[in-house]
Amino acid sequence: MNSPTVVPSAGLALLKTPGQLAAVGALAGVALPHVHAAGSDQVSVALIGCGGRGGGAASNAMSQSGPPKLVAMADVFDHRLKGSYETLKRKHKDQVDVPDDRKFIGFDAYKGAMDCLKKGDVAIFTTPLAFRWVHFKYAIEKGINVFMEKPLTADGPTSRRMLKLAEEATAKNLKVGVGLKSRHSRALQELHKRIQDGEIGDITLMRGYRMQGPIGSAFSTKWPRQPGELMWQISRFHSFLWASGGGYSDFNIHHIDHLCWMKNAWPVKAQGVGARHYRTSPDGAPYVDQNFDSYSVEYTFADGAKMIMDGRGMVGATPIYSSYAHGTKGMAIVSKQGDCGRPSSTYRTQSPTSESLLWRSKDVKDGPDDPFLNEWAALIDAIRNDKPFNEAASGVNASVTTSMGRYAAHTGQEVTFEEFLNHEHEYAPGVDKLTFDSPAPVQADKDGKYPVPQPGIKTKREY
Ligand SMILES: NC(=O)c1ccc[n+]([C@@H]2O[C@H](COP(=O)([O-])OP(=O)(O)OC[C@H]3O[C@@H](n4cnc5c(N)ncnc54)[C@H](O)[C@@H]3O)[C@@H](O)[C@H]2O)c1
Repeated sequence: MNSPTVVPSAGLALLKTPGQLAAVGALAGVALPHVHAAGSDQVSVALIGCGGRGGGAASNAMSQSGPPKLVAMADVFDHRLKGSYETLKRKHKDQVDVPDDRKFIGFDAYKGAMDCLKKGDVAIFTTPLAFRWVHFKYAIEKGINVFMEKPLTADGPTSRRMLKLAEEATAKNLKVGVGLKSRHSRALQELHKRIQDGEIGDITLMRGYRMQGPIGSAFSTKWPRQPGELMWQISRFHSFLWASGGGYSDFNIHHIDHLCWMKNAWPVKAQGVGARHYRTSPDGAPYVDQNFDSYSVEYTFADGAKMIMDGRGMVGATPIYSSYAHGTKGMAIVSKQGDCGRPSSTYRTQSPTSESLLWRSKDVKDGPDDPFLNEWAALIDAIRNDKPFNEAASGVNASVTTSMGRYAAHTGQEVTFEEFLNHEHEYAPGVDKLTFDSPAPVQADKDGKYPVPQPGIKTKREY
């Protein structure tokens, strides 16, 4: 279990800003300890954050060959853990081995769950993003591999912290998967290769649209006094920038990530517009959350290329949920529908017509291509066969790119990648010390409303 492994410098090409290069440059070619679960070793999994995606990720893990077993669970809400356990037990009877003494509730529950694992096992982090760095730090200390959901960060200080942790994870030869699933779609992988091979020329413009009705917990009416304010904010995490980066970050990051991947670069700056048109629920109760309901962000890359991301959560407005890349020789439909929905396609013109079609990926009817399963197959393969695999730095860069767009729209200012990454405002300081009785990281005014961005007025911070 101690033979060294060498991590190649692969991945550097994707990291274009000085801060990003510094974050990984030091690791190229370094000899690393060997902590993977070798050969047919049983991989055990602990689930931390037993909500919708957590249940999905645990099920994806247990659907891999081996098969991995779920051995511990953690949440801050007893009923969430219970519901998730029952669903998973029904579906994966023999692979769910979580007796009551391996079920943990509370803000330190993550420790109990990870303490049930051995080196080389996997912890799943599917809480709201505010807790990522806390959980990741502990996994690294314990030599545990990680699968963690997007986004990874919402502010500058925790992004810098996570980049450092990403380095430490690589130095310990840990395998780290991040739920930016587009990168594991076979259709998008083929499209990426075709774009790198020049099929549509040099990319000059990319467009992402996530325009739909209100989703998740982005829009909230007043805190109902039960549960406590902190716990209520956690359960409605899309409403609060400290917990999730808000709707812009949580919902748009897949498009932002896969478009940057197609371009093989992260943007150097962003400017944007956004507003909250509707300030009451359909029955007239005032909304108190921190989101806008419409965003349009323009990102600029070092070579001058642009990326536009439009996000909207509004009933009755036209829904559009797809992404596109335009190059000097043609265009591509990246995601036809949804976060990364097939088929992807390329065209020799700037509009997608059947006459100008160059290539079209397999369609849904042609067989499965489930990025949720593929991302786990890649992680488990890396663990079993000791392959370099750490998506954390890329996941942080995608999160920073997303957050800087939101910040630009919220402040009404142009912001660079480096400025956002080096910003000093930490949205939930001390999140590693929270207890059930802690005050919530963002406090309401006398009317129960939380601070909202005011572009042009609050220009140095989002709120
Ligand atoms: N990749 C994707 O396509 C995708 C899809 C959905 C959600 N997600 C991501 O997954 C994460 C969770 O989303 P969800 O929809 O499952 O939310 P959810 O509210 O259903 O689940 C989150 C769970 O985490 C628990 N939790 C909160 N704080 C905790 C803490 N400190 N310790 C332990 N447990 C804690 C909550 O009680 C809840 O059970 C988010 O970051 C979201 O963006 C990704």
